[in-house]
Parts: sequence; structure tokens; C-alpha cells
Amino acid sequence: MPVRVRYTCQTCGYTSPKWLGRCPDCGEWNSLVEEVPAEGGGRPRPAAPAEVLDVSQIPVEAEPRASTGLGEFDRVLGGGIVPGSLVLIGGEPGAGKSTLVSQVAARLAAGGTRVLYVSGEESARQTRMRLERLGTLPAGLLLLAENNLEAIQQAIEAQRPALVVVDSIQAVYRPDVPSAPGSVGQVRECTGSLLTVAKGQGISILIVGHVTKEGQLAGPRVLEHLVDTVLYFEGDRHHAYRILRATKNRFGSTNEIGVFEMGPHGLVEVANPSAAFLAERPAAAPGSAVVCALEGTRPLLLEVQALVAPTHFGMPRRTAAGIDYNRLVLLLAVLEKRAGLHLAMHDVYASVTGGLTVDDPAADLGVAVAVASAFRDRAVEQQVVVIGEVGLAGEVRAVRQVQQRVREAARLGFRRAVVPRASGGEWPPGVEVLAAATVAEALAILLG
Ligand code: TYD
Ligand code: MG
Repeated sequence: MPVRVRYTCQTCGYTSPKWLGRCPDCGEWNSLVEEVPAEGGGRPRPAAPAEVLDVSQIPVEAEPRASTGLGEFDRVLGGGIVPGSLVLIGGEPGAGKSTLVSQVAARLAAGGTRVLYVSGEESARQTRMRLERLGTLPAGLLLLAENNLEAIQQAIEAQRPALVVVDSIQAVYRPDVPSAPGSVGQVRECTGSLLTVAKGQGISILIVGHVTKEGQLAGPRVLEHLVDTVLYFEGDRHHAYRILRATKNRFGSTNEIGVFEMGPHGLVEVANPSAAFLAERPAAAPGSAVVCALEGTRPLLLEVQALVAPTHFGMPRRTAAGIDYNRLVLLLAVLEKRAGLHLAMHDVYASVTGGLTVDDPAADLGVAVAVASAFRDRAVEQQVVVIGEVGLAGEVRAVRQVQQRVREAARLGFRRAVVPRASGGEWPPGVEVLAAATVAEALAILLG
């Protein structure tokens, strides 16, 4: 019988019986690659009849969680690692994924947990050297440099660890799957096998996954369906700060973030991220405003910077780093039409400092203020935080949890806050809270 070839999209995992130039599911061009299905096709039949339970008969127990001792990591997971869970940690090369999982593995091993660290990319010696650099070589941390998933499964059977780290899923392969390591088929099948190990034997597994240039995991949708938790490690190698963000979590909330700083001896938790992100803020410089973005339950103060310069040739340039480009263009149009700022012949550059990405609309007003401040070459007062979403009519719209944001600013010694007119409530003492109904009003308050 001829082998039925299928084509799988490397971006989203869509499969098609024939090759297509463009994936009909995710719209990516040239992303379909040939994959030969595994021999024998179907899955084995179950040996015993499946156990069906009445929902009221299922015992309830609080999920016991293994605390890793890395507070920021535990926080993102929702309080620690749930036994038998499959956690995927994605990130760009150099983000620090191996460093993070090494630290987690070492901490748990030092606490008496049996941990197997499977390195598919580096030799056992290299992994040991990293651990030495991190200043920890606990007994009970077992290393295995292996790519063959069958050998890894045998090692798990023999060693019976409570936690397994697989670094990375793109480097391991199943010999019975004909496609190359790192292909969607291999990644999916290997993750599927690890899922069976995790659920069948109650072993927690941390899987490291590389993201592509476009910021996606190879076969992300297939992988994200299989695992319990998906964490993304953000931040580039040029910045010290790293953000760990949950995008899926079966055992907790998805919007908590963890903040780390990469140092010479590994990742250090940043206990006071707002202070850290504002540490290098220039004094009395035009084009700088402080916003407060809510990340999960945690308010974060961040500096938004803007530079406005006359356009010399042709089309004005707009660049955005850490904020959405389209959002920036929209805010510029609002400033032009509703606040009378003539930006049409000016280049505008806007960024969030510290290498962070903000998608909280509450940062809108701060971005607009930073641009206006740069345009008028007039600095915003140093100790003021700017909070509010901007609408197309130039109105400042209410945002959630304003009090909490103002409280964070007060904690860091801010004296004034500009908030949407519609927000009320009790303000912390020592902060002058000024309400603005429109962008023009906010600019009048802040820039005169
Ligand atoms: P790594 O964890 O290997 O990244 P990934 O597995 O995501 O590809 O390391 C990322 C970078 O961090 C690497 O360039 C070296 C640097 N680094 C430090 O600055 N300090 C450290 O203690 C360690 C272990 C790495
Ligand atoms: Mg690595």
C-alpha cells in the first residue's frame, strides 16, 4: 500500500492531503511541509474497559503543589508545580529558558525531589557547567543527554523521578516517526508520549520549546492543546529583564507575570518591578511619561518614551517598541484631530523602556502625553503617573482598578496622578488625583 503523505503547516499545525502555497487556516505562506504518517496508523485498543465515574463520586482534593522556591515562577504557575502536569516553557533562543529550568530543577532537587534533567541540545558536561555557574550542584539532580524519546522513557521508568525537564522538545525525536526532529509531526508525537508519561505515572514534566522568528512555537496550536500550562519567557538578550507570562493554565490564572533579571549567576527574582523599571528614568526630559499597566493582579509602573522629529524626506516614519504599532498610529491621529497637534510632517518614535511589551489600554493616555511632551519639547513633571484609555473622539475612558494603580504609584512616592474623569473611589493619602475627560484636558493639566 502506498504511504499516504500529508502536508502540515509548521506554524499552526493545519494538515492537508495536498501541498498548498498558503495555509488556509493561519494564512502563512510557504509553511506546509511534507510529513509521512507513522507506520501502523491508529492507536492500540485499551486492554481493559475504561472506568466511568459518577461526577459526585469523584474525590475532591486540593491540588497538592510543589513549590519551587522561586517565588516569581510559582506565582505564574498559580502556586507551584501540580504533580502530573505538563508545562511548556516557550521563548526565543537566548531568552534564558535553560537557565530558568535549571534553577527550578536544582531548587527542587536540593529540597529532596528526585529530578531528571534531559538535555537534548547540550552535553551533560555543559549542563553541569551551567549549574556550577548558577552556584548549585545538588545531589538527586540526575542528568541525561539524550535525544531519543524511547531512551528517555526508559530512563524515566528506571529512575522514577518526580519531575522531568525536557530541554528542548525540538531536539528530541521518536524513531518510529519518520519526519525530522523539530518538525510539527515529531514535536506533536513526542509531546503526546510525554503526556502519557505525565498522566500515567503522575510525573510533572517541564518542556522547553523554542519559538520561531515570528514568535510562535513550532506547531504551537497542537502543542498548546496537549499541555496543561503554557508559559512564555519574554525579553531579549540585550536587556536584563525577563518576563514569564502564562498564556494557558489549567491550574491557575493566565494573566499573572513573573519578573526576573538575568545576572552573572542566573536569574534573580525582581521583587519590586515598578522601581526597577523606573530606575533609569531621566530627570526632566521631554518625551517621557509614566504609565501604570495591570499585569494580572499586579500593577506595574513603566516609562513610555517618545521622540518627535521633523520629517526630511517623504513619508513620516512611525516606530513603536513595546506598544502596538497600530495603537500608536491611532493615538497620533487622535492627537492631530482632537488635540490640535500637527504631527503629519513629523517622525514619531515611541517605546516602553526595559524591553517590556504593554497591551493594557490604560497606557494609551501616557503614550499620547509622551508624544505631546516630545512634540512641544516640554517635560512632564517627574512624579506624576498617567492612567487612561483613549477613545477615537479624544475622550479619556475609564479603566479597571484605577485605585490599585494609583496606590502602586503612591507606594513609589508619586505625588500626582491623572486619571479618567469617570473613575471615582478612595484615593491613597499623599497623592493629588486629577481627573481628565479628554486628551486635550490631560495635556492642559500636564503640559500647560
Ligand atoms: P540560556 O538559558 O541558555 O537561554 P535559552 O535556553 O533560552 O536559549 O541562556 C541565555 C543567556 O543568558 C546566555 O546568552 C547566557 C546568559 N546567562 C547569563 O547571563 N547568566 C547566567 O548565569 C547564565 C546561566 C546565562
Ligand atoms: Mg537552551
